[in-house]
Amino acid sequence: MVNKNQLQLTYRDRLKLLTGAAGLAALTACGGGGSSSPTPPSGGTPPPAPPTPPVSTTPVDGLLRDTFRNNFVVGAAIGSAQIAEGSEDADILSKQFSSITAENLMKPDALAPTEGTYTFEAADALIAFAEANNLQVRGHTLLWYRATPDYFFEGTREEIKARLQKYITDVVTHFKGRVYAWDVVNEAISDGDGPTAPYRDSNWYQAAGGPDYIDWAFEAARAADPDVKLFINDYNTELAGKRARLVTVVEDLIARGIPLDGVGHQAHIQQSTSAADVFAGLDAFTNMFAGLENHITELDISVYSDPASCFDNATGCQPSVGNTLPAARAREQATRYRELFSGFAARSNLTSVTLWGLTDDASWLNSFPVDRPNYPLIYDRDRDPKTAFLAITDPNYVI
Ligand code: G3I
Repeated sequence: MVNKNQLQLTYRDRLKLLTGAAGLAALTACGGGGSSSPTPPSGGTPPPAPPTPPVSTTPVDGLLRDTFRNNFVVGAAIGSAQIAEGSEDADILSKQFSSITAENLMKPDALAPTEGTYTFEAADALIAFAEANNLQVRGHTLLWYRATPDYFFEGTREEIKARLQKYITDVVTHFKGRVYAWDVVNEAISDGDGPTAPYRDSNWYQAAGGPDYIDWAFEAARAADPDVKLFINDYNTELAGKRARLVTVVEDLIARGIPLDGVGHQAHIQQSTSAADVFAGLDAFTNMFAGLENHITELDISVYSDPASCFDNATGCQPSVGNTLPAARAREQATRYRELFSGFAARSNLTSVTLWGLTDDASWLNSFPVDRPNYPLIYDRDRDPKTAFLAITDPNYVI
C-alpha cells in the first residue's frame, strides 16, 4: 500500500530545492501572489513552467516543517481523535509538523470541570504523543471567557483571584518543561469601543471589577514556570481597530512590568482578507520591546467571504459551495496561503505558526458562523495535501 507521506519520484526531484537555504530564499523571494515561475536568465526565453503535480501528490517526509525550519515551528490544533494509534492523522502530524496545540483539551473546562479535581489524562496523552514524535507543544489556554466552568466566578473578588491563581499555578506546574508557550490570556480585547474598551466586557472583567485579572494570570504563570513563554492571544489583529486596542493593552502590560513574552495572532481569516493586513497585525508589535515574539496561533482561511452580518446574526452568509471545493476557490485559497507563509518567513520575530486543525473535515468552520462545509486548512477530507500545501512548500508550483 502506498503511504501518502512517501514520495513520488518526479516530485522529489523538484522538491530537493526546498531542503536547503536556497530553497527557502526562493520561497521567501517569490513574495506570494505573483508568478511562481522561475526567473528567466536575462535576455533569454523563459523556461517552460514545470508541470503542475496532481493535488494528491504525496509530499516527502518532513517537507512542511523543513521548508520553514529556519523560520518557525509549524503546528496544528488537534484532539484525541488525531493521535489514535495507526491513524492517518497521526502519521501526517509526525511526518510534516513540528508543533501541536490542544484544540480543546487544555482549556479550563477540560482540565478542571469541577473545582479541585483535575482531569489531565487526555492532555497528557496528547503530550506523550508529541514527545514520541518530536513535536513541541503550545499551551492553549489558561484563561478565557469561554470554556470555563461557572465555579471559577463564584465568591468574592479575592476568592476568585485566589482560585484563578491556584488553577494557573497547578496547570502550569503540571505541564512545566513540556510546553514551550502558553496562551495565558485569550480574547480579552473588546471588539468595539464600548464602555470597557479596550477590554472585553466579560465574565472575568466583571468578576475582577476591571482588567486586573490579566495581571493575576500572567504573574501566576510566570511564578509557576520562569522559562515558558507567556502570550496574550486574540483574533482580528488584521483589523485596525482591534489591533489598536490590543496594542494599547500590550503597551500597558509592558510599562507595568507584567511578564509577557509575546503576542498570539489567531488569524481566523477569509479569502477576502489581504495578507498585507495580516502582516500589519504582526508588525504592529515588532520592536515593541526587545525579544518580543509573535505567534500565528489559529490560522485557517475560510473559502467563504462573509459580511459582518453573517457573524452578528447569521444573515447574508455566502451559500454553501457544496461537498467539493471548487477549483477557483482552491486556487484563490492557495494563493493567500502562499502570500502568508512567504511573508511569515520574512519576519524574524515570528517563531510559531499553527493551523487551527489538520484536515478540513475537523475544522470548527464547518459549523461556524453557520452549518456549511468549509475547506479552510491544507489537508483535505481524504487526508491528501491540498493545493494550498503545495503552494507553501513548493515555490515552483503553479497555482
Ligand atoms: O466534548 C463535547 C462532547 O462530549 C459533546 O458531546 C459535544 C456536544 O456538543 O460537545 C463537545 O464539546 C465541544 C468541543 O468543542 C469539542 O468538540 C463543545 O461543545 C464546543 O463548544 C467546543 O468548541 C470549541 C470552541 O473553541 C470552544 O471551546 C472548538 O472545537 C474550538 O475549535 C474552538 O477554538 C477556539 C479557540 O479556543 C480560541 N479562538 C477561537 C477558536 C474557534 O472558536
